[in-house]
Amino acid sequence: MRTVTKDNITEVFIGYFSDDTDPRVKEVLSSLANHLHDFAREVNLTHDEWRKGLEFLEWAGKITTPERNEFVLLSDVMGLSSLVDMLHSNPESTSSSVLGPFHVSNPPPLDIGGDMKRDFDGEVLLVEGYVKDTEGNAIPNATIDIWQTAPNGLYSSQDPDQDIHSFHALMKADENGHYAFTTVQPVSYTVPSDGPVGGILDAAGRHPWRPSHLHYIVSADGFRSLVTEVFPDTDPYLDEDTVFGVRDDLVMKYIKQPAGSFPEGFALSGNVPDEYSRVDFDLILAKD
Ligand code: BEZ
Ligand code: FE
Repeated sequence: MRTVTKDNITEVFIGYFSDDTDPRVKEVLSSLANHLHDFAREVNLTHDEWRKGLEFLEWAGKITTPERNEFVLLSDVMGLSSLVDMLHSNPESTSSSVLGPFHVSNPPPLDIGGDMKRDFDGEVLLVEGYVKDTEGNAIPNATIDIWQTAPNGLYSSQDPDQDIHSFHALMKADENGHYAFTTVQPVSYTVPSDGPVGGILDAAGRHPWRPSHLHYIVSADGFRSLVTEVFPDTDPYLDEDTVFGVRDDLVMKYIKQPAGSFPEGFALSGNVPDEYSRVDFDLILAKD
């Protein structure tokens, strides 16, 4: 009989793997057990705290649906999603950032120069840029999937008053890598905080806010797909994004343009007499 103690339990755990266990599974699970056991020893985890942790996971499981995944949100607010992103991000490409739960499949196609805001009111934001490789060469015909909140801070899947495709678009960049569209500036918003993850934020004295952003997924043959976001440099939550998604190269100036200067070549040309803002955001992809 082997005597299990608080000091050898990790070693005993690791000894239970069979000889034919996949080496990566063994590496990951051994390390996980190591850190988990060390964590319990370090904080001297009580029965009550252990039970609360399991109740948290149970609640997260119950609240999770195809539209709302509380485990992903947990990973986001704990910084794990961003850490995994940064571990595998190519330093020469545009930084990746969190995907979040509000992307929809089959977004509606939008021509270059098209308008994503449709009937929504608000100051026009013109977004324009080029998809390039890490040497600065244009990548032709990349696919750019874009989404954002409506001016009320809600994504279409959170808001029964929006069509599911509102503020979602799929654009094909041209042979020079150029893309451009108009929208209204997204707003800062709170991640869902009425579930167990909200409880963690509360207990830690943290707020649930994210700085305003546009989401992108950029794909092109022969290149690694990029999941990213762009943020305005004036947002008050840039330094305290609750899901740790902000990177220096994703923060851009949204520059005010005078009334009467809206350019030709856009779906809205001729219909924007007022001031508008513009942001230039190039997307650099690394090879596969
Ligand atoms: C988002 O940016 O859409 C998001 C990211 C993480 C958690 C919740 C929302
Ligand atoms: Fe978002």
